[in-house]
Amino acid sequence: MTHALFDPITLRGLEIRNRVWIPPMCQYMVEAQDGVPTPWHLVHLGGLARGGAGAVVVEATGVVPEGRISPQDLGLWNDEQRDAFRPITDFIHSQGAVAGIQLAHAGRKASTSREWGPTAGGGNVAPEQGGWQPVGPSPVAFPGLHVPTELTVEGIADVVRAFAVAARRAVDAGFDLLELHGAHGYLLHEFLSPLSNERTDQYGGSLENRARALLETVDAVRAEVGEDVPLVVRLSATDWVEGGWDLPETEQLSAWLGEHDVDLVSVSTGGNVQNAPIPVGPGYQLPFATAIRQATGVPVAAVGMIDDPFQAEQIVALGQADVVLVGRGALRDPNFPIRAAQALRVDLPYKPAPYERAYR
Ligand SMILES: Cc1cc2nc3c(=O)[nH]c(=O)nc-3n(C[C@H](O)[C@H](O)[C@H](O)COP(=O)(O)O)c2cc1C
Repeated sequence: MTHALFDPITLRGLEIRNRVWIPPMCQYMVEAQDGVPTPWHLVHLGGLARGGAGAVVVEATGVVPEGRISPQDLGLWNDEQRDAFRPITDFIHSQGAVAGIQLAHAGRKASTSREWGPTAGGGNVAPEQGGWQPVGPSPVAFPGLHVPTELTVEGIADVVRAFAVAARRAVDAGFDLLELHGAHGYLLHEFLSPLSNERTDQYGGSLENRARALLETVDAVRAEVGEDVPLVVRLSATDWVEGGWDLPETEQLSAWLGEHDVDLVSVSTGGNVQNAPIPVGPGYQLPFATAIRQATGVPVAAVGMIDDPFQAEQIVALGQADVVLVGRGALRDPNFPIRAAQALRVDLPYKPAPYERAYR
């Protein structure tokens, strides 16, 4: 029996040891509010690499301070941050995993509170607690949050440049794979969705125009890092409401992303509409990933309550997706990949040697 999930995959010459990866997951653990990774991030991400994942993708990391979701997010807009990521990428590599990072701008959903501590509650964080005024494509608020300041054309160019500069720092910090956050109602998704983009210039209106900010970002990042670095774009395949961003538009955009040298589309959904009717359940987003793969031929990652090894194996074996991302399942059990291999009776050559006796 072949084991699709534990077959390597190669993106742009980078061989990744298997197809069970860790998706970006915000930790909100930068207490100093300076975007600099801490021992928490080393232990958290290092543990996930030790657990056997093919790639570990670091949480949404702000390309500019005002692009963070919360004041406690990671950032990559200065050299101190870059240098502090190095021990993390070194450790991930020492475990045989690929180090990825999600570069992000939170747009109108920036400057919000984490779920715990003195600022808990999910609303905007006040300036005296480290908050700031968010920006967006249009002055249209996400329900319950501040009305964002509309970005000027020059402001959009600054954001695009910031993604490219952060991408350079990411590569210099040792990251092998870069992901751009185009999902979950953050800035690049806000440009895509007619629900958050009411612009009448070249960045609003037609699909070509709404996709322009993302495609310019992809091109700027590629020009900065060169041809060797695999590039992933995360998209929400639907806003889950009538009149919002939808699957046909995602398919067209994914085809364009393929033409713009993007190597894999990570297919999530939602995030731009409050209380959208999302039919959450095991593998609930998988059909979107499969549809995009079939429509475009671009490799895809599937995500969303894929916590069962046999389900994950089947997804890859049947060609429904090229990669499976396990998020919360890996928070519950950072050794999910090793344990999935056990369940599938695959003898992994990369169980940590000091832990071998635990698996006999
Ligand atoms: C604690 C937590 C933080 C998350 N942070 C991010 C993030 O930074 N960027 C992102 O694209 N998705 C983020 N997500 C979404 C996950 O990457 C993933 O898509 C989602 O949890 C569904 O997969 P799962 O059912 O395997 O957890 C986060 C999810 C969780 C649970």
